[in-house]
Order: sequence, then C-alpha cells, then structure tokens
Amino acid sequence: MSDVTNRDQFGSRIGFILASAGSAVGLGNIWRFPFVAGENGGAAFVFIYLLLVFCIGMPVMLAEFVVGRRGQGDPVGSLRRVAGKAFMPLGAMGIIASIIILSFYAVVGGWTIKYTLDAVIGSLGTDVASAGAMFGAFVKNPFAVIGYQALFMLGTYMVVARGIGNGIEKFCTIFMPVLFLLLIVLAVRSVTLPGAAEGLAFYLKPDFSKVNGSMVLAALGQAFFSLSIGIGVMLTYGSYLNKAEPIVSPAFQICFLDSFVAFIAGLVIFPAVFAFGFEPGAGPGLTFVTLPAVFSKMPGGSIFAIAFFFLLVIASLTSSMSLLEVISAYFVDERRWSRKKATLVVASFTFLLGVPSAISLGGGLNLFGKSFLDAMDFIASNVIMPLGGMGFALLAGWLLHTMAREEFSDAHGVPSIIYPAWRVICCVVAPIAIGWIFISGLKW
Ligand code: TRP
Repeated sequence: MSDVTNRDQFGSRIGFILASAGSAVGLGNIWRFPFVAGENGGAAFVFIYLLLVFCIGMPVMLAEFVVGRRGQGDPVGSLRRVAGKAFMPLGAMGIIASIIILSFYAVVGGWTIKYTLDAVIGSLGTDVASAGAMFGAFVKNPFAVIGYQALFMLGTYMVVARGIGNGIEKFCTIFMPVLFLLLIVLAVRSVTLPGAAEGLAFYLKPDFSKVNGSMVLAALGQAFFSLSIGIGVMLTYGSYLNKAEPIVSPAFQICFLDSFVAFIAGLVIFPAVFAFGFEPGAGPGLTFVTLPAVFSKMPGGSIFAIAFFFLLVIASLTSSMSLLEVISAYFVDERRWSRKKATLVVASFTFLLGVPSAISLGGGLNLFGKSFLDAMDFIASNVIMPLGGMGFALLAGWLLHTMAREEFSDAHGVPSIIYPAWRVICCVVAPIAIGWIFISGLKW
C-alpha cells in the first residue's frame, strides 16, 4: 500500500479544477472543435455537443474520479485496490495510451513553440502559399522538429518534476487564467472585424437538416477526446484531491470550462478566416497555414498572432503535463521510484518514442498507409480511449456504485440528486453510446 498520508495533493479545489481543465483544454478544443462544428451544422452541433458533454462525458469523468479517490494512486494501483486484480489491465491500458498520446502530443506541442517564436520575430507566412511552404519546409526538417519537440518535453518535465501542488497546480493556476483572458481578447478582436458576420453564420447558423447519426457520432467522439477521459488521467488527478472536497460540482465546472474554451475558439477562428476571405479548411492546416495568413492581414495582427500561438503553447503544455503525470504516478506509486527519477525516465523515453512521429510528416514514415503520427493518434484516440471509457463506466456503475454514492454525498451523507441518473448512464447509456463510437471509429 502506498503511504497515503505523504501523498502529494492539490492545495485547493480551484487548483484541482484548473489543472483538470488544463488537461482537457488542448489542441482538440482550439483547432478540432471549431471545424468539426462548422462542418456539422453549426449551432445545432454545438447544442448536441453540450448535451453529450454533460450527459455522457461528465458521468464517465465522475466514474474515474470515484476510482481515483478511493484507490488513492495511479490507475493500476487504484483499480487493484478498489476493484481487484482483474481490473488492473484497464489501468495498464490507460498508461499505455498516455505514453502513446504524450509521444506525439509533444511533437505538435513543439510546433506551437516554433510558431510562437516565429510570431515574436515576425517571420510567419504572409499568405496561404508562403505559410504553407514554410510549414512544409519546417516539418521536413528533422533537426528543427525534434529540437522543438525536445524543448516542449523539457518544459513539461520541469513542471511535473516539481510535483502536484508546487508544479502542475501552480502552473495551471497562473496560466489557465492567462489562457482564458487571451482567448476572450482574441474573440473580441475577431468578431468585431468588418465582414465577421459571414464567419459567425458559418459557425453558428443552426442547420437542423444536418442532425443525423453521423453528426451525433462526431459530437460524441469530440466530447470524449476533448474531456481527456477513458485513460485514467482524471482518475489520477482525482486521487490527489483532498477527500473533504466534493467531486460532483468540480466535474461540472471542468466540463463547463472545456466546452467554453472550445466554443470561444470557434468565435476566434471563423469570423477572422471569413473576414479576410480565406477557406475554412480543416486540420493542422487551419491553424498552421491559414491562421498565419489571417493574422498578417489583420490590423495589429502580429500581436494577436503572438497571443494566439502562446495560447496554444499553454493549452498543449497543460495537457501534456497530465499525461506525463499519469505515467510517472505509476512508477512512483507501484514501483516506488522517486518523482524526479520517474518523470525524468518517462519524459526521456516518450521523447524517443515520439521521434518517429516527429519525422513522419516530412519523411513519409508510414504505418499501413497512415503517417506514424496519425497511426499513433488512431490507436490511442479511436481504440484505447473508447474502450477505457466504457470500462470505467461499466465498472463504476455495476460494481462500485456504493462507493460512488458515498463519494457523491454531502457532509450529511445525502447523495447528490444526480446519483440515480449517473448510475443509469454508467450502467447502460454510456456503454452503448461509447460502443457506437468505437465501432464506427474503427475504419483505419
Ligand atoms: N483533451 C485534449 C485536447 O483537447 C487531448 C487529449 C485526449 C488528452 N486525451 C487526453 C489530453 C488525455 C490529456 C490526457 O486536446
């Protein structure tokens, strides 16, 4: 058993909420959500997305919190303590997924550092052609890509090595508010541009004719990815939350902050893209090719470009920290390594594992027809995350409901009014919904 009294902890509820929101808010919110929403019916999509975040995502997040709080450890150890040895593979799967995600997340995180520095020295592309050529040349240069990947991993390591309260919590308490502020400033700039209305219409005009199975599926997959659930990240963070603190209201607040950032990111991107007559294209291209061109046309654009890319650095650093934390927690809690040793070894190892991803976009390093980076993303996001989420929902709903009821109760032992709904969702609704994401996401 780990020495529970000496375990590092979050110092405050707000620190815990900001750190968990930091994990959830990432590249998925800032580039992925806006274009998925734009393509899937705008406001109609946003509405369904919010419904799914709170009705399916939040219950699964709560399931992870229950296991972490009761298990007081990393995913493998916590599951062994609360549910028995048979459930350890669920934790191990989460740790493997975290290693995979961290390996390529640091590569893209490195790009955000490179773009922030380019924005500072004023050398971003000025139109789509030059920005595209610069992006292409950058990803083909292994020394540059690996160098920035190393820098990003070093930053992640330096925070996580300092621990929960002094490292992750402190960083997120300072920088998450900075992220919110920058985002609001950028949104105000974007929606007040002449010609912003067309972008707003593209993003937000409800098109209910697009409400169909594939749109609901896109919303569910996005909600799942964006909330960072299914691989034990929330479990681990929950294990560092003081037992006197409630878990239901923080889970709600984390889901709210994550959705808020995703929604506002759309208000930053689309009005500006349309105002200057660019194509609302998708994927990394929108962020790393279209947006530099947009900023070069915008009055005061160089300042806004710095703000935007710096915001991306914060968003991706706080996500990568949570991944490094989960993996390191396993070695600290189960293998009795010191935190310094665990974070150093894990960061170095995942850095090396990320090198094939780093060079795959420029050099055509492929795995069965996908770039190595996309292949890693597919395995973690489309296979392990849904299976893990389903595992946590089923486990908590069917086997751990008495514990959950206690964890959802206030100081007088009265369970939260959401408890019965939570249980039905975890036992039946979430597993079916997630099974559906899983099966339809299996197309390589
Ligand atoms: N939620 C992150 C984003 O929106 C990405 C992500 C998926 C993630 N799974 C994760 C981050 C697990 C941390 C841990 O970009």
